Amino acid sequence: MASKIETKLDKIVSLAKRRGFIYQGSEIYGGLSGIYDYGPLGVELRHNIKQHFWKKFITEREDVYGMSAAILMPERVWEASGHTELFTDPLVECKLCHERVRADQPEVISNHEEVHKKDKKKIEWSEPQVFNLLVETKLGASEKTATNVYLRGEITQGVHVNFKNILDSMHPRIPFGIGQIGKAFRNEITPRDFLFRQREFEQMELQYYIKPNEQIGLEMFEIWKHHSLEWYYSLGFSKDSLRLRQHGPDERAHYAKDAWDIEYNTPFAGWKEAWGVHHRGDWDLKRHSEYSGVDMSYYDETTKERFIPWDIECSGGVDRAVLFLLLESYTEDEMNGELRAYLKFNPRVAPIKAAVFPLLKNKPELVEKARTVYEALKKEFGAIMFDDNGNIGKRYRRQDEIGTPYCITIDFDTLGDDTVTIRDRDTGKQDRVPVNELIPFFKQTIL
Ligand code: GAP
Repeated sequence: MASKIETKLDKIVSLAKRRGFIYQGSEIYGGLSGIYDYGPLGVELRHNIKQHFWKKFITEREDVYGMSAAILMPERVWEASGHTELFTDPLVECKLCHERVRADQPEVISNHEEVHKKDKKKIEWSEPQVFNLLVETKLGASEKTATNVYLRGEITQGVHVNFKNILDSMHPRIPFGIGQIGKAFRNEITPRDFLFRQREFEQMELQYYIKPNEQIGLEMFEIWKHHSLEWYYSLGFSKDSLRLRQHGPDERAHYAKDAWDIEYNTPFAGWKEAWGVHHRGDWDLKRHSEYSGVDMSYYDETTKERFIPWDIECSGGVDRAVLFLLLESYTEDEMNGELRAYLKFNPRVAPIKAAVFPLLKNKPELVEKARTVYEALKKEFGAIMFDDNGNIGKRYRRQDEIGTPYCITIDFDTLGDDTVTIRDRDTGKQDRVPVNELIPFFKQTIL
């Protein structure tokens, strides 16, 4: 069972590297644990996910503003948010080799013990110690004057510290939201499972500010849970592979009154968190009012009330969405008597939307026509590929493997009647369509 589970993740890791999706960070220097770089196809996939988030959570709505805060923030922000004190993991140290591992991850502990058992050594662990996950650095030219700053551990605080700026510049009416996408950094002790637990990753978030009222809080929480789950489905996940799960009281982050996760049923470790919906109450704005001395209250012109709003947060990992989409889309089947592995991406997220081929590379009239079709589509949709390398069957396989939904072939009939074949990635079925119907067809199917 375990080897089968690992196999799928291994296949994804290998495909991701081979086809230009994801590489180990700084690989030529031996790599950096928990850090990954995105290649030409990976960056498009990631961009499409982020664009879709931006559209559905921000630009399509009247009540949400977008923003982009800086990564570096002073220590005081993290004291206010509670992260310097409470953003910790318990650690134990192996007394034999001094490696430190998470005390709350029995699987990691037993794997470590197995290694020493092989050397016939008896292992002893230290008492658990708390370890802070924030990544710290210094700004300033000299040791004496340098100030401690942190690479943000969650992108959230950049929104909360700008709450008053948004009130003063945009004059929003409650309820309203502020959305953001950006990098976050955590000194994870055991980064693992490819993109799942990294030290540098990207988050997409919405902070939705509401009146401090239990009933409104309950209703808004349900609305955002539902909206988040629907959004995740719209990336191309099946209903069976996602679920919502409520955190137990001892699981919740220090800021949360209530918390639910959207979980994906991974083949490597069962249900794992993809996205969180958190009821943060007035925790952040109240603390920033106290710590900064700046009033973070909102004045409601309609009711003439002044209050600190509550925050309902949606927070998803971009990289986890990438990993889970790769796992969800990876398919093996048999086509024309051959085994094939392909990525069954929803066209919305596919890094390349269509590939254009001249049937034969050595016929200039076919190549010229194929280039004309390619250039027209590329101008309209951007992510279109031209390929004249190898036979058509091989070109199909290459596109299938990177999840391109459609392949268009220009053949001798095209020169006579201006029609092309469009091949569907999933079924292999080919249809003949007029060239002038390609743009309307793709507008309907890939956007
Ligand atoms: N602002 C709330 C917050 O940061 P979180 O549950 O700690 O909440 C939100 O993180 C999302 O960020 C997670 O659901 C996950 O998708 C992603 N995430 C968290 N830690 C991560 C890590 N080490 N590597 C990759 N993604 C991570």
